[in-house]
Amino acid sequence: MADAPPLLVFGAGWLGRGLVARWPGAVLARADIADAAAVARALDEHRPRRVVNAAGRTGHPNVDALEDDPAGTWRSNVAGPILLAAACRERGIHFTHLGSGCLYQGDNAGRGFAEDDPPNYAGSLYSRTKAAAEAPLADLGALQLRLRMPLASEPHPRNLLTKLLGFEEVVRVANSITVLDDFWAPARVLIEREATGVFHLVNEGVEYHDEVLHLWRRLADSGHRFRVIPPEALAARTRAGRSHCVLSTAKARAHGVGLPPLTESLPRVLAAYRDRARPAPPGHAPAGGGSRRT
Ligand SMILES: NC(=O)c1ccc[n+]([C@@H]2O[C@H](COP(=O)([O-])OP(=O)(O)OC[C@H]3O[C@@H](n4cnc5c(N)ncnc54)[C@H](OP(=O)(O)O)[C@@H]3O)[C@@H](O)[C@H]2O)c1
Repeated sequence: MADAPPLLVFGAGWLGRGLVARWPGAVLARADIADAAAVARALDEHRPRRVVNAAGRTGHPNVDALEDDPAGTWRSNVAGPILLAAACRERGIHFTHLGSGCLYQGDNAGRGFAEDDPPNYAGSLYSRTKAAAEAPLADLGALQLRLRMPLASEPHPRNLLTKLLGFEEVVRVANSITVLDDFWAPARVLIEREATGVFHLVNEGVEYHDEVLHLWRRLADSGHRFRVIPPEALAARTRAGRSHCVLSTAKARAHGVGLPPLTESLPRVLAAYRDRARPAPPGHAPAGGGSRRT
């Protein structure tokens, strides 16, 4: 039998693949997390020390698509994670789940929502399923990392920056976001510590979509055009509601895993994205997986 991997990751999507690529020796499991036999086979074949669940229904191109498939969404976002967490617990394997901060609306009177504040947002099937998985996973001793609207230096359809650059209209509402480039290291610290409980892994400070695009105009493309629309106008065009919320980062900071302020991260990450998205000079291989969109 091959050596046990330090980490077995379920979910071959953006975040699951990104985690495996950054963690030497990590292995991607090819199993349906809601299929008990397939999960048992994967765990017993690899015998990992730790498991991360990055599998779940997220909706393509966005969460609106999930509204048509409640059974599949509850299966993958609630039944599957619970089944996987229970199977890990039976085997003494530390289990981490990628959760979402899209359980809240607003900024909690300026304080930001703490990890133990009860969810106050149920406007989409996605948010309802992500919230519903949390209590059973807590009972099963999971580490739950809540991300929000990941923004990364690598062009990708799920990257907030890639999405914003494709929108002609954006809303201006305060949000916590996770700069993915800043996420991997603290996530790894918590996983290797075998921490349990819920952690907000979002950057310090709040994001406004129009401010990100103004920064993009300054750093990359002064001709980039967009309009700001009121949230009600967006709500009239989407099937599922959208959470806009600010999360407290106090717990992550207290555990030494706080993410840096957005004022530091965004200029760095937007410049890196710009450099990756630029066409390579003749005779050079492209630097990243994207094409210049602006
Ligand atoms: N990216 C974000 O904005 C964000 C923010 C906060 C939290 N998260 C959470 O992080 C996790 C990963 O997100 P992501 O951005 O990497 O999404 P993603 O690119 O859509 O990846 C999720 C992967 O899970 C797979 N999957 C769905 N049901 C499954 C099942 N029953 N068994 C095994 N695999 C299954 C999906 O396959 P199909 O595509 O075939 O369904 C997809 O490959 C999700 O749980 C998401 O809720 C993401």
